[in-house]
Amino acid sequence: MTIIVFSSRSGSSEWYARALASRTELDVFPVSDHPDGEDMVFFGWLRNDTVVGIGDVDPNRLLAVCVVGLDDVKKFPKREVADRNGIHVPVYYMRGWIDRKRLNPLDKAVLLAVCVMMKLKGLDPKDEPVFDAMMDGGSFVDDKYLESVELFIGSRR
Ligand SMILES: Cc1cc2nc3c(=O)[nH]c(=O)nc-3n(C[C@H](O)[C@H](O)[C@H](O)COP(=O)(O)O)c2cc1C
Repeated sequence: MTIIVFSSRSGSSEWYARALASRTELDVFPVSDHPDGEDMVFFGWLRNDTVVGIGDVDPNRLLAVCVVGLDDVKKFPKREVADRNGIHVPVYYMRGWIDRKRLNPLDKAVLLAVCVMMKLKGLDPKDEPVFDAMMDGGSFVDDKYLESVELFIGSRR
């Protein structure tokens, strides 16, 4: 059986995982409470170059990994993130949201540091929506990102 497993701090990776579960009728679990011994599609949020939570699942059970981040799709360094996190299965990237109420003080401090670096480097107008979302919260969620994952799951059935 295939299951869907997610790690999520501010809720968008969970939103995508649950949306895929309702499209595919697969069962969905938080990473902290997933059953052993099942093949899975994993959803994890991007914290710098780390896919949070992926270290808590059996890598031999991964079928695909969905990485949820804020940046533009074109800026997602797929190969580096796959190498850094030891991922050897298909990787899909989808844009999430930031709900600052659900971030801890450390996360907020890291985001502030990233924002300061962006400002110091000179903010590209295309980066402004991402900058604003990091400072104030915001969403880039779109369920179109799930289409290719759904096709992948369908091709395995
Ligand atoms: C501390 C921190 C670091 C982050 N680093 C990145 C990053 O390197 N690249 C990126 O695209 N998004 C980054 N983000 C944005 C999150 O990946 C994004 O908000 C994601 O949608 C969060 O998923 P969640 O809602 O499931 O927690 C970062 C967010 C936080 C709080």
